[in-house]
Amino acid sequence: MPHRIALIPGDGIGVPVTDAAMAVAAKAAPGLLETVSFPWSCQTYLETGRMMPEDGIETLRGFDAIFLGAVGWPAKVPDSVSLHGLLLPIRKAFVQYANIRPHRLLPGVVGPLRKEDFDILCIRENTEGEYSGAGGRVHQGTADEVAVETAIFTRAGVERILRFGFEQAMTRRRKLASVTKSNAQKYSMVFWDEVTRELSAEFPEVEVSHYHVDAIAARMVMAPETLDVVVASNLFGDILTDLGAAIQGGLGFAASANIDPTRKGPSMFEPVHGSAPDIAHLGVANPIAAIWSLVMMLDHLGEAATAARIMAALEATTAQGIGTVPGKNTTDEITAAVLAALEA
Ligand code: NAD
Ligand code: IPM
Ligand code: MN
Repeated sequence: MPHRIALIPGDGIGVPVTDAAMAVAAKAAPGLLETVSFPWSCQTYLETGRMMPEDGIETLRGFDAIFLGAVGWPAKVPDSVSLHGLLLPIRKAFVQYANIRPHRLLPGVVGPLRKEDFDILCIRENTEGEYSGAGGRVHQGTADEVAVETAIFTRAGVERILRFGFEQAMTRRRKLASVTKSNAQKYSMVFWDEVTRELSAEFPEVEVSHYHVDAIAARMVMAPETLDVVVASNLFGDILTDLGAAIQGGLGFAASANIDPTRKGPSMFEPVHGSAPDIAHLGVANPIAAIWSLVMMLDHLGEAATAARIMAALEATTAQGIGTVPGKNTTDEITAAVLAALEA
């Protein structure tokens, strides 16, 4: 039985990198995925006033997984509208509370740090925290204006993401870095530290370190090899994973999985990067992050052998120096090299 996948290519480079990933899937395992493509994007918003139809979430619920390219066309639609109309509601509606983002160098890629020995798994809380959407503005446009954005941290939300992080650490090098800013934020982040300590009693084999987000940002640059699993809140995780992308060679390499570990609804797979309007029509978007996200989706769907073959093809491609330097190869050249590596 094929897996039913909802494709949302989105805007800008989301479209070509989704095409690339699907071409790779079709070559690696013909018929394994049955895809239905939804044209939900900023263009749709301009035409209909909505990023997705009113029953969009219900439509997605029937699929085994969602694959998203990227959303956003800030010149035409404010990001606060486009992202709150599609990406963020999907993560929340399907309780995709664990956003998993691996950071390591593929063979042949020379990152800015010129270190090859790091292997970090960032686990970003994906449904609450600083992205709760609670807040408001008063006295708008006046000298007395006040804007409030409330970060909400629930025990259930903090516990489940940290537990997921501990479980991941048990399958890896058994090190967990818990990220807060508890020196400045005395409610939510002190609470996060307490929950980390409580859970660490359940996972005595895992070595836990507590970092402030500023300090771990520096550590990711200076000594990334000292980190294994990194668990962070929604906003801190967002920022640290663009940093993670940078040390692995650029945004074109960073993959992600938005997972509901309880598997009640579909999980969503997407590159970390956005729609990149600055290069959108140049044909040079790196599809590796999207193809790696496909690998994560196949693993999630229980297709480990196909996932491993595609990952090996990606590594063979970069090992030949293809796709390793931003702008050096076109999207089509990189995709063709991955397809050829699958045949080898
Ligand atoms: P971005 O990730 O789109 O681009 C940042 C920089 O990285 C740009 O210089 C871009 O050219 C480069 N880049 C990104 N992906 C690349 C790739 N695959 N190959 C080569 N270079 C790549 O971030 P941004 O410019 O802040 O955001 C652009 C739009 O995308 C905004 O509307 C933003 O809100 C949206 N966005 C969407 C998602 C998503 O849908 N998941 C994620 C991030 C940003
Ligand atoms: C990401 C993106 C999104 C986020 C934006 C586009 C809302 O930056 O997936 O990393 O902040 O979660
Ligand atoms: Mn981001």
